[in-house]
Amino acid sequence: MLILFFDWCLKLKSPLIFLNSIKMFELNLLKKKSKIFQKLKSRTGLFFAVSLSIILLSILPALSQQPVVLNLLMAAPDAQPWKEGLLKDFESKNPGIRINLIEGPNATNLLEDLYTSAFILGDSPYDLVNMDIIWTSKFAAAGWLLDLDNRISLEELTAFSPQDVNGGRYEGKLYRIPMRSDVGMLYYREDLLQQAGFQPPETFEDLIKISQALQKQGKVKWGYVWQGRQYEGLMAMFMEVLKGYGGFWVKPDTLEVGLDRPETLRAIAFLKDTISQGISPPGVTTYQEEDTRRFFQSGQTAFLRSWPYVWPLANQADSPLKGKVGIKTMVSNSGKTGAACLGGWGLGIAKSSKHPEEAWKAIQYFTSVQAQRQFIFNSGSVPSRVSLFKDPEVIAKYPHYPQLLEVEKQAVLRPPIAQYAQTSDILQRYLSAALTNSMTPEKAMKAAANETRTLLKSR
Ligand code: GLC
Repeated sequence: MLILFFDWCLKLKSPLIFLNSIKMFELNLLKKKSKIFQKLKSRTGLFFAVSLSIILLSILPALSQQPVVLNLLMAAPDAQPWKEGLLKDFESKNPGIRINLIEGPNATNLLEDLYTSAFILGDSPYDLVNMDIIWTSKFAAAGWLLDLDNRISLEELTAFSPQDVNGGRYEGKLYRIPMRSDVGMLYYREDLLQQAGFQPPETFEDLIKISQALQKQGKVKWGYVWQGRQYEGLMAMFMEVLKGYGGFWVKPDTLEVGLDRPETLRAIAFLKDTISQGISPPGVTTYQEEDTRRFFQSGQTAFLRSWPYVWPLANQADSPLKGKVGIKTMVSNSGKTGAACLGGWGLGIAKSSKHPEEAWKAIQYFTSVQAQRQFIFNSGSVPSRVSLFKDPEVIAKYPHYPQLLEVEKQAVLRPPIAQYAQTSDILQRYLSAALTNSMTPEKAMKAAANETRTLLKSR
């Protein structure tokens, strides 16, 4: 009977039930002073009790060694390269830990909403927090992340790109270790430009002129595609155009807002011109990254603004653009330098996690040289470790990486402020209204600037 009962507890594999049951059993024994109790007092009973304790002592650690499960949420398209080897490799090296990868929506702001609501509601299921570079300030300011400073030395951090590391800091403390970097850039059809005798464009004017010429020659239907939908991708794209005109959005140190300045209006005028002059398709104001990538890859357009993930896809065996694509920093107004928006993803530990040590082990592995090398081979995304940009094996597969490193050096952050999500939401709404002609750019940017100022003052 007794053995059957313990056997049942073991099958349940719950150490808690098992222990509680033993406690109850002992109590009953003591209370009732039953026959079994008498037996235990006898020599055979004593032997039985000792044996039982030994068995228990040897079984309990085994029971408590069930793998710790770390929950991790990320955008569905980002999950693929993790599933291709990275997770398995980590789990085989750490048999006590399992990663439960949850696939979320594509748009970073929707993913952020999921994390945010889980943290606000409390009892969040997430242990590892896979963070876009723009989330660090908000998540850290809200107290949702563990401070990682005492887990990694400054020397170890020097192996990562300094901008990526800074993107993981808030008020001097470190909350996120960069897993992969990202920089916005301009893709162009090298073959078509060469055939038509054009150098890659340097200015916004060049971009328009070359586009129109190639369209006129019937080489492409459209000239330029960019992310124009009302979402975070619109902000990343706009940062580059705005900077290229010498403007600014919010200065992080002073919280000065530059949205109603003439440079902002010039940046919007450029984007609107691309549509009104038939260089960008009218649907561009509804496009996210993947829409624009497919558009470019199908050969319909000469230029594309996007992230590095496009390069391996555009050059894969069945792509009509294989070997025909060039990359460069985004163009600018003449006399100004082109800007690249710094994106990228990194890992933090949720303060509410019950497994911070295991989560840190996972972060150490996923941000290691070995894991990053494997990850970039599978995904073509940009490493956060500088040495990998110059790694001969990596360059053999991705000859454009040294050039990417140069683009990255010029990369600029979207304002690293705790109210970034609301700030971005304001600009997304008004910029989208200006681009789709439901408001004049002047009116839209005045409203956007005022709302942003009110928000930042109410800090
Ligand atoms: C990329 C970038 C990220 C950015 C997002 C916008 O995922 O890495 O930083 O916010 O695109 O769509």
